[in-house]
Amino acid sequence: MRCAVYPGTFDPLTFGHLDIISRGAVLFDQVVVSILHNPSKQPLFSLTERMEQVRWSVRDISNVTVDNFSGLLVDYYRQNGFHCIIRGIRNQADVQNEMQMTQMNESLDSSVQTVFLPTRPDFLFISSTLVKDVALHGGDVHHLVPPHVQDALQNRYDQKRTD
Ligand code: PNS
Repeated sequence: MRCAVYPGTFDPLTFGHLDIISRGAVLFDQVVVSILHNPSKQPLFSLTERMEQVRWSVRDISNVTVDNFSGLLVDYYRQNGFHCIIRGIRNQADVQNEMQMTQMNESLDSSVQTVFLPTRPDFLFISSTLVKDVALHGGDVHHLVPPHVQDALQNRYDQKRTD
């Protein structure tokens, strides 16, 4: 059974991420979407909230599960017996960053395999950072994120406005 990990911050999950997850699920027997738990960063959504959002969004894809990790990705990869890391590529900047990360991971463990999946043209411009900026300013994000995430963004920013 070929099992791939799709690691990321997912703060929040976007339709771009979901597209990569769906395509990974066709290529591999099992895909684990794993959310980085980095206590030194201040995400908009807690780890628990992000895990719940991703779980809700992948509920109809039977071979996708959700997990989290902290520390080095290669250690987590080895400990869980994964066969591959999946990363999505939108543009030249992503290629540059992802190549660097891949080579760093390979320098730490030469057995680690990574595949890059090109993002569908419809989603090339989407990033979690821009989605948050649009939502913060009251813009419509229904075409960028699943409905569950859209509601969570609206609630979080409404709450911040009244704080
Ligand atoms: O969604 P992101 O923020 O682009 O995901 C980046 C992620 C989580 C894949 C990357 O930061 C990561 O693997 N972090 C774990 C720490 C690590 O292994 N660092 C060394 C490899 S560059």
